[in-house]
Amino acid sequence: MKVVSIVGARPQLVKLAPIAAAFAKTDHKHVIVHTGQHYDVNLSDVFFSGLGIPDPDVHLGIGSGSHGVQTGNTLAALDPVLAAESPDWVLVYGDTNSTLAGALSAVKQHLPVAHLEAGLRSFNRRMPEEHNRVLTDHAADLLLAPTEEAMRHLAAEGLAGKSVLAGDVMVDVCLRMRDAVRAGQHPQPQLPPGIDPTQPYLLATLHRAENTDDPRLLAELIASLAALPLPVALLAHPRLVAKAGEQGLKLAQGSVHVGRPLGYAAMVAAVIGSVGVVTDSGGLQKEAYLLDRPCTTLRTETEWIETLEGDWNRLVARPSALSAQEWIDTATRPAPAAPRGLPYGDGRAAERVVQFLAGGLPGSSLA
Ligand code: UD1
Repeated sequence: MKVVSIVGARPQLVKLAPIAAAFAKTDHKHVIVHTGQHYDVNLSDVFFSGLGIPDPDVHLGIGSGSHGVQTGNTLAALDPVLAAESPDWVLVYGDTNSTLAGALSAVKQHLPVAHLEAGLRSFNRRMPEEHNRVLTDHAADLLLAPTEEAMRHLAAEGLAGKSVLAGDVMVDVCLRMRDAVRAGQHPQPQLPPGIDPTQPYLLATLHRAENTDDPRLLAELIASLAALPLPVALLAHPRLVAKAGEQGLKLAQGSVHVGRPLGYAAMVAAVIGSVGVVTDSGGLQKEAYLLDRPCTTLRTETEWIETLEGDWNRLVARPSALSAQEWIDTATRPAPAAPRGLPYGDGRAAERVVQFLAGGLPGSSLA
């Protein structure tokens, strides 16, 4: 079997790591195509080196642009690559513009498409990711769902016949890295200047277009972080830096100390070292959950609803809607004592994904 993985943005590289490792244990041929949606060293290269992912076989060098430009350029550039590779499966990941472009290029060439992390829904059509995931799920031939909830969403959209529960591949990589960090196999992360890693701190990220692109909301969110009574390590995505720059907003205010995005091991170590996480990232909500840190999510909804159980994660779209004390009590609350199940799987999802792909199209004679 030959599988082409299409990736482009940071969270996809994290998911690619366990998939590439699972393929490496087999005789299947795995081709990696990097669209180049993310191109900064600390959004892309550090994930290949830090997670031991083989270098991409093809790099399209697409870069940034409006949604149409980025998606369209990726689509056009993928056509000849997929035609030349002619794989048994095209594997697309998550919900970015690279995901949608990959799925479209493949289906138009009658190449079977599998969607990893299928079935997630925010039901918020203001999010570009929501369009990307819904359209990709409906185009794809095999839907690899991470959770029971995702399976329910797919069934509700009439897609049960091509959906399988694979588990979440991010658990595979997160738990492996947690163990390596605990075993001292990685140096302490470079936290922003002013953060003492031996003292309590909160870890924060903010990059969603819904939060960064509205100047008033962004200023309000940064002011809320600035008002917290603990140092806040804000690991700033380039989008946040760019938008704050355009808006003349200073990110380093009050408790906020600004640093660069971290590689995966350093991020896991930074979460473990923190007393809690404040974020709008989907991946980080789940990493906080898996690493036993309470999370406050700066959004109106989450695709990872399992994290809300037992108060491990709390949604706060507008901290300013809370009193100053309620906001502080929320963002600095201790980790809950309640035990948790394994809603994201057992850390062996990537192997299962390879097995599902090797089984062929759902309903075909290969299955
Ligand atoms: C993309 C995904 C989002 C994912 C996120 C992870 C879409 C629609 N969004 O958002 O789902 O959570 O990746 O990070 O695909 N930039 C750089 N260097 C880079 C990449 C981006 O400076 O290497 C800056 C540019 O100003 C660019 C902006 O960040 O315009 C946004 O980048 P883009 O790839 O469009 O989307 P993300 O916000 O990263």
